Amino acid sequence: MKTPTLSRRSRCAALLLGCLLGLPLGAMAADEVEIGRRIYLEGQLSSGQPLTGRRFDGTVVSGRSAACVSCHRRSGLGSVEGNVLVPPITGKFLFASDQAPLATMDQRRRKSFNQAHAPYDAPAFARAVRQGIAIDGRTMQVVMPHYGLDDAELRALGAYLRQLSAEWSPGVTEENIRLATVIAPGVNAARRQALLDTLRSAMAQKNGSTAPGRRHMVSPAEMMSRSERNWQLDVWELQGEPATWAAQLAEHYRRQPVFALLSGVTESTWQPVHEFCSREAVPCWFPSVALPAAPENFYNLYFSRGVMLEADVLAGHLLDGAAPKPQRLIQIHRDNVVGNAAARALATNLAGRGITVDSRPLGMAGTLPALLSDIGPTDAVMFWLAPADLPALAELSPGNIRRVYFSGELGNIQESSFPPAWKSVARLVYPYELPARRAANLAYFHTWLKLRRLPLVDETLQSEAYFAVSFLSDTLAEMLHNVHRDYLLERAEEMLSKREGGKAEEEARMRLYLGRPGDLTRKYGAGNRQVATRDLPLTDVQGPATPAGEAPRRAGTTVYPRLSLAQDQRFASKGAYIARFDEQGGLVADGEWSVP
Ligand code: HEC
Repeated sequence: MKTPTLSRRSRCAALLLGCLLGLPLGAMAADEVEIGRRIYLEGQLSSGQPLTGRRFDGTVVSGRSAACVSCHRRSGLGSVEGNVLVPPITGKFLFASDQAPLATMDQRRRKSFNQAHAPYDAPAFARAVRQGIAIDGRTMQVVMPHYGLDDAELRALGAYLRQLSAEWSPGVTEENIRLATVIAPGVNAARRQALLDTLRSAMAQKNGSTAPGRRHMVSPAEMMSRSERNWQLDVWELQGEPATWAAQLAEHYRRQPVFALLSGVTESTWQPVHEFCSREAVPCWFPSVALPAAPENFYNLYFSRGVMLEADVLAGHLLDGAAPKPQRLIQIHRDNVVGNAAARALATNLAGRGITVDSRPLGMAGTLPALLSDIGPTDAVMFWLAPADLPALAELSPGNIRRVYFSGELGNIQESSFPPAWKSVARLVYPYELPARRAANLAYFHTWLKLRRLPLVDETLQSEAYFAVSFLSDTLAEMLHNVHRDYLLERAEEMLSKREGGKAEEEARMRLYLGRPGDLTRKYGAGNRQVATRDLPLTDVQGPATPAGEAPRRAGTTVYPRLSLAQDQRFASKGAYIARFDEQGGLVADGEWSVP
């Protein structure tokens, strides 16, 4: 039997009577959900007037800022704002009389869940919304506004809440979560394989750690609610022109719906995948792309703004007055989607700012020596080059060129393979952690690769894929049985900043145990016979909390210095270094980490 779509099924839940009577989705009842939706999400009443709420202190909020979504979130599963816990208010949590469902609330207080309460009925719901009185008679915190809604509006809100996050999202069953990774055509075969091997290996380990008998790697809350699921990974290989990708993605999805897209890679555009995710409301979880697509969207999470970020950082650097402004900036770029977008972004940033920008695509217009022949001492050059272009550059000498910048991300630049003749004049726009610190942050990952017998092919790509799996695993663990896409993104926002510091600490501790199974056994208890070095956890090891008064470590676990997301932010790393080579040929920062 074909699974009905989410919205239809959940509407049926809301409109049970109508469905039982065999009525078409009754215009009236469907309208009711729609009226409720507008109040909840947009802060707009059916009259077209803005929703207005009054706080205890008398201040009035109205329209979007009064909308329930701003605190209870899209999923309806609540949030933590500072010290305020906003409880889940979907039908299941509010009105259901069977066993109270469980949601994780505040990570800082371990095992902190939503409060169980008696089921709300219509009068109690009205008291909560109109007067701020909870089901147990308690006056609620001042944060929750009071709303002068009439009975029909409250009924509509109730109908909306009953269908909100009522069903697991597509791709989720009692036992499994189905995911897909998207690989665009034209990705280098070795990188493609490295990505797939890393994803599969990390996933196999995750699935292994939640298999029966291995429950020690599951978080206590997951264990209690038995909500851990087995993951399945589909690989969606796109073919041909980007204009045809939308249809291919739709076909993959029709054949086998997935809960989310995990990681993924392209060397050209990502736009059709981005659009697919926003259209279908499918989370697109940290793909490895140099050019994230626009416009920013709730469902698309990225590591960074890629070359757009580099263009902003470089423009800031050229204009900040620390060094004399060049008269002319010559950009040499590949004539492809990414190269052209990068060059356009930098040209736009510098337009009208006193620097002439001259953009020169490689290829048609000429080879490197021809493109560089007329450059004088008052010019600066920006290379948006791919790794394959660097050997050609190594054959040339900088000659007259005094200032030259390289895209750190596009060139995938390594200290060791960088053309030596260019080191003394080169500056890198470098959106990653610098090598020394980066090596420390990634030590755990490198050990993991060795233990899994995976070759290191591309550190950035592979560590990004590893992060995508382990952060998804952490986030899903927190979600318990509430496996809803909107909630996944909301939890990711809440968890990422907290996780990176804590995770780095935990992995530093785990490094101490590597190769010392006796210690591992002591740590996890002698009863866990399965514990061996190869079973080192991907996630979920709950180390001791940071001692009071000790500043949490800020080191990350990725190639980025720090990943964080606030509400509705979709780019986790927000800056870049301008870096140069020192006398020993090592890459060092030339100034602060710059966040444009
Ligand atoms: C500014 C933030 C904010 C907004 C906006 C907001 N709420 Fe709340 N809501 C809260 C907080 C905080 C609580 C918990 C208060 C407490 O328990 O002391 C709460 C509690 C509730 C409760 C009681 C839940 C329980 O478990 O007992 C209901 C019902 C509720 N809100 C409905 C709504 C509805 C419907 C809207 C929109 C019309 C809305 N809220 C808008 C912050 C907000």
